[in-house]
Amino acid sequence: MSGSETILLTGGEGRLGTELRALAPEIVAPLEAAMDITDPAAVAATFAEVGPSLVVHAAAYTDVAGAETDRARCWRINVDGTRNIVREALARDLAMVHISTDYVFWGDTGGYKEDDPVGPVRNYYSLTKLVAEALVRVLDRHLVIRTSFRPREWPYPVAFTDVFTSQDYVDVIAPQIALAIRRWREVPFKTLHIATERKSVYDLARRRRGDVEPGSKRGAAVEFPDDISLDTSRWQDLKTQWDAPT
Ligand SMILES: NC(=O)c1ccc[n+]([C@@H]2O[C@H](COP(=O)([O-])OP(=O)(O)OC[C@H]3O[C@@H](n4cnc5c(N)ncnc54)[C@H](OP(=O)(O)O)[C@@H]3O)[C@@H](O)[C@H]2O)c1
Repeated sequence: MSGSETILLTGGEGRLGTELRALAPEIVAPLEAAMDITDPAAVAATFAEVGPSLVVHAAAYTDVAGAETDRARCWRINVDGTRNIVREALARDLAMVHISTDYVFWGDTGGYKEDDPVGPVRNYYSLTKLVAEALVRVLDRHLVIRTSFRPREWPYPVAFTDVFTSQDYVDVIAPQIALAIRRWREVPFKTLHIATERKSVYDLARRRRGDVEPGSKRGAAVEFPDDISLDTSRWQDLKTQWDAPT
């Protein structure tokens, strides 16, 4: 992303990672087969080989429903895996950008700012992501990006009108995360919310699927928040500063 920077990306084959690699083809993104983040030796060997100056950690166990029944696996990847990355970053005095989630908040009031109290969390996936954030914060130079995104197309015939969010489609969010990664040295914060404006999930769905039907979270099998939207003014202000003529 910048001439002298070697960036190592975990989760490069995931939804977000695929977009980031397309936006920044020079990024080094080992396959999971080459670097299973739950294997400390594989992590150490890859870091030694690549010699990054920055690690971007986007690998995770992201199946929120699956995490409830496969808690051990979710913890192993999201917590132990993050610990392995952090230990290597510590040993090598690296900077780290960590991809986190709006789900570290409870999701009743919405408009969450970076320094608002986190938790309680609604599910096991969110718990592991919250613990992962705490692990990353041991590093002097770290940036936790809390975000939320959908695949490029809305996949369901129905979308909730009574759940509010600041998430957006991955092709909208990824360029913004790529920008924050590219300019991470100019980010004077340890936590950044990258998302778009507050809207209902139904309004978001309609942007990419005109025939989507309005629905309600009442009666859904899993618990959804009322309003999990993030306040993104810190990020918007930073971009305005960067855009201002010098
Ligand atoms: N999707 C969302 O709405 C959302 C919202 C907020 C935050 N996030 C966060 O954003 C990040 C990216 O999410 P995403 O939606 O792009 O996830 P994703 O599509 O599920 O991709 C996750 C990636 O992590 C890899 N991975 C899993 N276990 C691994 C292991 N042991 N070693 C190495 N790699 C492993 C996966 O590889 P395999 O597929 O080969 O297992 C996959 O490439 C995650 O940290 C997630 O928590 C996502």
